[in-house]
Amino acid sequence: MRMYDIIMKKRNGGELSREELRFFVEGYTCGSIPDYQVSALMMAVYFRGMTHLETCELTMAMADSGDRLDLSGIGGIKVDKHSTGGVGDKTSLALAPMVAACGIPVAKMSGRGLGHTGGTIDKLESFPGFTTALSPERFRDNVNRIGIAIMGQTADLAPADKKLYALRDVTATVDNMSLIASSIMSKKLAAGADAIVLDVKTGSGAFMKREEDARALAEEMVGIGKGAGKTTVAVISDMDQPLGFAVGNALEVREAIETLKGQGPEDFVELCMTLGSQMLLAGKRAASEQEARTMLEQVISDGSALEKLAEFVEAQGGDRNCVYHPEFLPVASVRKEVPAPASGYVSRIVCDEVGICSLILGGGRETKESGIDLAVGLVLCKKTGDPVRAGEPLAVIHANDSAKAQEAEKRFLSACTISDKAPEKLPFIRAVIV
Ligand code: URA
Repeated sequence: MRMYDIIMKKRNGGELSREELRFFVEGYTCGSIPDYQVSALMMAVYFRGMTHLETCELTMAMADSGDRLDLSGIGGIKVDKHSTGGVGDKTSLALAPMVAACGIPVAKMSGRGLGHTGGTIDKLESFPGFTTALSPERFRDNVNRIGIAIMGQTADLAPADKKLYALRDVTATVDNMSLIASSIMSKKLAAGADAIVLDVKTGSGAFMKREEDARALAEEMVGIGKGAGKTTVAVISDMDQPLGFAVGNALEVREAIETLKGQGPEDFVELCMTLGSQMLLAGKRAASEQEARTMLEQVISDGSALEKLAEFVEAQGGDRNCVYHPEFLPVASVRKEVPAPASGYVSRIVCDEVGICSLILGGGRETKESGIDLAVGLVLCKKTGDPVRAGEPLAVIHANDSAKAQEAEKRFLSACTISDKAPEKLPFIRAVIV
C-alpha cells in the first residue's frame, strides 16, 4: 500500500477503506509517513469530505493508535464531557465539581488552548501548583477518593490525534466535520468512560459557524459513540458571543468559582444545568431532567460543589485557598475600560475576534511551544441584546502590557456592533441530540 495512492483516491473523491485509513494512521503515528503527505491528505479530506463509515473507521484507527485508559478500577458509571471549543468556555471548571458532588465519578482528559479557543488545562494551571501530569494510578486513585481527576492528553493516549491536530492547526484543516468528529471521539474512546456528553458549539466563536453544520457534527459524533457501545448525547449551544462574561484563564476560573457560589452568568448557568442533567441521566443518578436539575441546584446552594472544586485542586497539587479566596489567583497589572462609541443596543459581538483579543494580550499560545500569561483577558460588561449608552464600558481589558491592551481594545471595538434596534434573541440551547 502507498500513501501516494491514498491521497490520490481521496483527491478524486473516492471512499477510503478501513485498511487504507489504518495504514495512514499507523504510518503517521510511527513516523514512517511524513507531515507533507498527511497535509495533502487532510486538504483532500477537507474538500472531498468523508462518509460516515470512513469517519467511524478513522476514529477507531486513531483511538487504537496508543493505549486505552482502563477505568474498570473506578466504581460507578464514568461519564465524560467534551466541548468542541469556544471563547470563555470555562464549563468543565464548574461542571466537573457539580456532577462529582452529585456522585458521578469524573475521570476526564482535557486539552490546552488552541487557535482562538481556550483550554481547560491552561485555566486550571491558574491555581498555583496545579498539575495535570498524573500517572494512570494517581488518576484512578483520585477519582476513587474524591470523585474527580482531570489529566492532559498524554503521548500514549490517541497519539495519532495529537500529531494530526497539531498538523491541522497549521494547515487550515481544523474546521472539517469528519476530522473534528474523529479527533474528539478517538480521544473520548481512548479515555475509557462509559458515557459521553458532548457540548457542540455553533456561531462565530465555534469551529462550526452554521447551526446546520453543528447539528451534522453532533449527529456524527453521537452515531460514532453509540456505534462503539457508549451512551452518547450532544447538546448544541450558542457560541455566537463569549460564554458568560470572562475570557482569559484566571478570569474564567474566578467566574467558575462565582458560579459554584450561585452567582454565575445566566447563559453559563444554563449550560452547566443542561450538560449536568444529561451527565446525571447518562450516569443513572437521576431519573428525569427535573430531578437532575434539582440535585445540581442543591450542590450549589449547600456549598458542596464549591468544596468539591477545592478538594480536586488540592488533590492535583494546587492551592485550595484560591477557591475560597480567588484574589490569590494571578492578577494583571493594567485594567482598561473599553467605552462604547455610541448609544443603542449591542447587536453583535464577533466571538472569535474576542478570543483573538485574549491571544493578543498573551492569554493564548502563538506557537505550540510558547508560554501564556494566565492573568490577562477581558471581562465583558455588556452582552448581545443589552442596551448601552455612549461612553459606558463595553468590557474591561486585563493586561500586563499597555501596548497590547491598546491593540486588544481596537480589535474588540471592531468586533462589536451597536445598533438602534435590539437584535432578535435566539435560544441559547439549540438542541439536545440523543
Ligand atoms: N476539539 C478537538 O479535540 N478536536 C478538534 O478537531 C476540534 C475541537
